Amino acid sequence: MEFQAEITDRLQYGVGDASYQAAGGETGIRKLVDAFYNAMERLPEAAKIRKMHPADLSVSKDKLTLFLCGWLNGPALYSQKYGPIRIPQVHSHLEIGSGERDAWLRCMQEALKTQPYTPDFKAYLMEQLYVPAERSRNRE
Ligand code: HEM
Repeated sequence: MEFQAEITDRLQYGVGDASYQAAGGETGIRKLVDAFYNAMERLPEAAKIRKMHPADLSVSKDKLTLFLCGWLNGPALYSQKYGPIRIPQVHSHLEIGSGERDAWLRCMQEALKTQPYTPDFKAYLMEQLYVPAERSRNRE
């Protein structure tokens, strides 16, 4: 029964803007992204990807927040503010291998620890984020 309930929940995250709502809308996603970049500042394994970013993270935070709103089927706030985006292209000037990809995902996993989400939604997000993280990778 429990297993069945989990499957039902997971299917529902993909429906309409259910995932955007589960993430707390723009306010919740902004908190997640703050925690994500805090983890990037802190975790030794993320030092290399932190150095790829500007010293002041405010624009990076805003861009990732607004992107994730649309990515979770919420409003297309990124394109409204910054224009169209393609994930492989915006990362093509960076050297991203599987180590950098995993460091990025690790920061997200760390950030999720402090968010008021269900364990099921956290697991769903990590699974789904693997897809764009892998698409950002441009070397072995
Ligand atoms: C896989 C490892 C990744 C690394 C090392 C990485 C690194 C970076 C860096 C250094 C920037 C430039 C930041 C800035 O100039 O403000 C950037 C931009 C961006 N990244 Fe990533 N990223 C990764 C994965 C992802 C993923 C998985 C997503 C989405 C789920 C994402 C979404 C974005 C967005 C929306 C921007 C802003 C693009 C722009 O408007 O210039 N990134 N990334």
